[in-house]
Amino acid sequence: MKTLVIVTHPNIEQSRINKTWMEALQGHDNVTVHQLYATYPDKTIDAAKEQSLILAHDRIILQFPFYWYSTPSLLKEWFDVVLSYGWAYGEGGDKMHGKQLGVAVSTFGPAESYQHTGYNRYTMEELLKPIQATNNLIGTTFMTPFILNGVMHISEEQLKQNAADYVKYVTMQSVTV
Ligand SMILES: Cc1cc2nc3c(=O)[nH]c(=O)nc-3n(C[C@H](O)[C@H](O)[C@H](O)COP(=O)(O)O)c2cc1C
Repeated sequence: MKTLVIVTHPNIEQSRINKTWMEALQGHDNVTVHQLYATYPDKTIDAAKEQSLILAHDRIILQFPFYWYSTPSLLKEWFDVVLSYGWAYGEGGDKMHGKQLGVAVSTFGPAESYQHTGYNRYTMEELLKPIQATNNLIGTTFMTPFILNGVMHISEEQLKQNAADYVKYVTMQSVTV
């Protein structure tokens, strides 16, 4: 099982959570960490290069901080240019069929805010539906997302444990859906 972790954070040096997650993955066999903003400082994504990276892996994890209830913009661009017609969907578009797709997302809002009764009014599961719908169209198996809410209130000790849990999520043999 080869796993590609696509990290999309526009300011990874200032990051606490995503940087810790990324560093925790270093040195693990069969895990490739690929940073979009570092690879494409001019934000022009090389679709062919991204597609060959995907083809070389069995599981793709999209790791990002939640921005405006969605992904940072370069990850949206990645969807737009990499998951093309005839490659990821449509006639002949079966290149991702059978792969696994996971999501790892950190949020400022605490878990209780992502409830119908909370100030964000929608659950994370609902807000991540566009990625799940994309998963359905491209024929991947959607893994239960790995979510860390309320990042301001996570202690160093909790973050250390959470990063260890994240490594387990990325490297687990069987998928939880
Ligand atoms: C432009 C921008 C938009 C954001 N939008 C949201 C949001 O919609 N919901 C939320 O809970 N947090 C939001 N945040 C907070 C980030 O998700 C949070 O800072 C990040 O997950 C922390 O991870 P890091 O330490 O890796 O940067 C936003 C932050 C920025 C800079």
